[in-house]
Amino acid sequence: MRTTIRDIQQMRDRGERIPMVTAYDYTSAQIADRAGIPMILVGDSLGMVVLGHESTVPVTLDEMLHHTRAVVRGARKALVVGDLPFLTYASPEQAVISAGRMLQEAGAQAVKLEGGVHIAPTIARLVHLGIPVMGHIGFTPQAVNQIGLRVQGKRAAEAQQLLADALAVQEAGAFAVVIELVPAELAQAITERLRIPTIGIGAGAGCSGQVQVWHDMLGLYSDFVPRHARRYANLAAIIGEALAQYANDVRAGAFPGPEHSSRMDADELAAALR
Ligand code: KIV
Ligand code: NA
Repeated sequence: MRTTIRDIQQMRDRGERIPMVTAYDYTSAQIADRAGIPMILVGDSLGMVVLGHESTVPVTLDEMLHHTRAVVRGARKALVVGDLPFLTYASPEQAVISAGRMLQEAGAQAVKLEGGVHIAPTIARLVHLGIPVMGHIGFTPQAVNQIGLRVQGKRAAEAQQLLADALAVQEAGAFAVVIELVPAELAQAITERLRIPTIGIGAGAGCSGQVQVWHDMLGLYSDFVPRHARRYANLAAIIGEALAQYANDVRAGAFPGPEHSSRMDADELAAALR
């Protein structure tokens, strides 16, 4: 049975912290699923870590659908959340079309979209139609050109706005909310005032769960290592060594070995070459 938004709420209500990770393809989703991660995000961070863009702004809905389909095929148990990219939910009606495609064409169980008070009516519209929504407040990467890459809510006025954003997202019916790059004390205070789970990234340990970008936590991405990431592996180094070994073996004629290919009868070959 696949994890549902109800299961996620129950984890939060029981005080179980909720681990979440991004994935962008079939194989990674399978690994995350088998590791027991209950919720996978197909993040528009794929624009940076998979496609090499400088931000998430250039990511299209078609790209998100393409990757989400692959993740859904790989994740049997995890709840799959598909990010709605920049300008694909600029009005409630556009959001319905975009989120509808994410569920119907790509097979995600929920969508995520960025914003607080101003996006709440859009969240409410989706939820009323039966589309589970995860909110995303604090630093919202799709607005990087507007707000810059910085911690949000360090001053009282901004912190008050973030609390209002969190409450608006909850009242609109979101089943969870990502809190990104917010001081730990504030993220914890917001978590204590909400009924729905908060999923933190760069927001301290006081959230109901955590989300990390696959490439950051596994040491695959070297352009930029965010402060909030802990490297649980250094896969770039491991993969680099494996590839160098492979290249050496090919150059030395040490790969492939006899066991890696098939053989044919000498008479058959002689007959073919006659
Ligand atoms: O796109 C993404 O990976 C995200 C997470 C960082 C929350 O939105
Ligand atoms: Na995102």
